[in-house]
Amino acid sequence: MKKLLVSEQEIKEICARIGKEITDKFIGDENPPIIIGVLKGAAPFMMDLIKEIKCFVELDFVQYSSYQRTKSTGVVVMKKDISTDIKGRNVIIVEDIVDTGKTFAKMVEYLHTYEPLHIYTCTLLDKKARREVEFECDFVGKEIPNYFVYGYGLDYLEYFRNTKEIYYIDDEKIIIDELNNKKEWNY
Ligand code: IMP
Repeated sequence: MKKLLVSEQEIKEICARIGKEITDKFIGDENPPIIIGVLKGAAPFMMDLIKEIKCFVELDFVQYSSYQRTKSTGVVVMKKDISTDIKGRNVIIVEDIVDTGKTFAKMVEYLHTYEPLHIYTCTLLDKKARREVEFECDFVGKEIPNYFVYGYGLDYLEYFRNTKEIYYIDDEKIIIDELNNKKEWNY
């Protein structure tokens, strides 16, 4: 049985709240933020979030990888760089989840080499108890326990990114059985 962690309604409320926080911070600013989504996981969240932001923004994407199956490898490899000049600009990096914090720390360090004015960080989910490097996000959707989660952008072996809700795994055998029977979709 799938285990629900964050409902569609709760995700909507999170997007509305963070959208307002970002709007309040940047409305009237002549230096509109560039929102950088981290592919692939943050794409659904970013698309819903930006519709709740009521001021000028630009968009871009980066892609890193650090996870294999359900474990962080600890090695962060960049796969796609930004295509916008962020020098002197406000930047908001949007992630799906912060776990050890290594990916975010590395991204912030890397993007600083482009000399932005300020880098803000935003995550839908935060597994704070798992942190290995000191890292606080400026905008946080929801703090969650140490579960492996999937859905709404977050994948299990590249699947389940296309759900409206977020689930957690308490028995990996169940999800492996689901993947072994792709004719049936229970979400
Ligand atoms: P960190 O570097 O350990 O903070 O890992 C962050 C990245 O690992 C995220 O961008 C996700 O892609 C992935 N990740 C961490 N926890 C989960 C999870 O529970 N489900 C799916 N992906 C996860």
